[in-house]
Amino acid sequence: MLFPDYRPRRLRQNDAFRRMIRETKLSVDDLILPLFVNGGKGVKNPIPSMPGHYQLSIDNLVKTAKKAYELGIPAVMLFGIPDKKDPLATSAYAKDGIVQKATKALKDKIPELILITDVCLCQYTDHGHCGIVEGQIIDNDATLDLLAKTALSHAKANADMVAPSDMMDGRVAEIRNALDENGFSNIPIMSYAVKYCSAFYGPFRQAADSSPKFGDRRTYQMDPSNALEAIREVTMDIEEGADIIMIKPALPYLDIICRVREEIDLPIAAYNVSGEFAMVKAADKMGWLDGKRVMMESLTAIKRSGADMILTYFAIEAAKELS
Ligand code: PBG
Repeated sequence: MLFPDYRPRRLRQNDAFRRMIRETKLSVDDLILPLFVNGGKGVKNPIPSMPGHYQLSIDNLVKTAKKAYELGIPAVMLFGIPDKKDPLATSAYAKDGIVQKATKALKDKIPELILITDVCLCQYTDHGHCGIVEGQIIDNDATLDLLAKTALSHAKANADMVAPSDMMDGRVAEIRNALDENGFSNIPIMSYAVKYCSAFYGPFRQAADSSPKFGDRRTYQMDPSNALEAIREVTMDIEEGADIIMIKPALPYLDIICRVREEIDLPIAAYNVSGEFAMVKAADKMGWLDGKRVMMESLTAIKRSGADMILTYFAIEAAKELS
């Protein structure tokens, strides 16, 4: 069909027409709110590069999670900031670790809110890497057992789902086995299957105090140049037992979300990461763009590309906008 027979503007002329032909509808059901928890009481430390986000002690964490729940957000993702770090990340899998305590408190106070726990070691190791370090090398196989222990300790603390973000090879199978062998075959795994080695994680590392003390994460996180490799990572994690596949970051990698969507039929989560959030907030503060509109446009675009759910620091603001 060609102009003048076809006029795309006919169906754009008013809001009702536009609503009727809208292909992608963002819903509060799509949103997952990431939260940072640390020790103490009454703590609410602002994260400078992430306006509106805080390092929260458990009491305040529960308050924020309740707010999210009341807005209809179905799930939160929990990141722990421990008091102590050591080479073996022991506080990641300690029974009374910060995530384990926070998980229990959240499930106790807001049982219907789905609680996803991030499973990684970087906040808990003194060197800041996501695995065990031998000399300068991140030892893949030595790390697997600790990741499985961490995931299991979260399940024991009543987490609803675990989300390994370490990018060690083989960790999904190891975690699946540990969960199954201990009576947690109903706990799903949301695998950070496609996690790029991204500069967009900057604000998060400030928030979680998780920057590597030497080197970088290039030997385990993916090279931003690669797309076919993303399909291999996804295939591998599905075979190992992943229930939800995550792609991260989101906006610079919409092509990857779209390609993975065509390849698989499992639910896909996209992580709209800290740097993506910080850029919008900074530009909005400068008066350079309309932050609220950019937020809604970005989240809609992530969904349009094929994501079923979006982890985003905008979750509360977007939920308000949608209600
Ligand atoms: C830890 C982890 C990171 C993020 C989620 N889990 C940071 C990293 O890999 O250094 C980033 C999230 C964000 O930037 O919002 N492995």
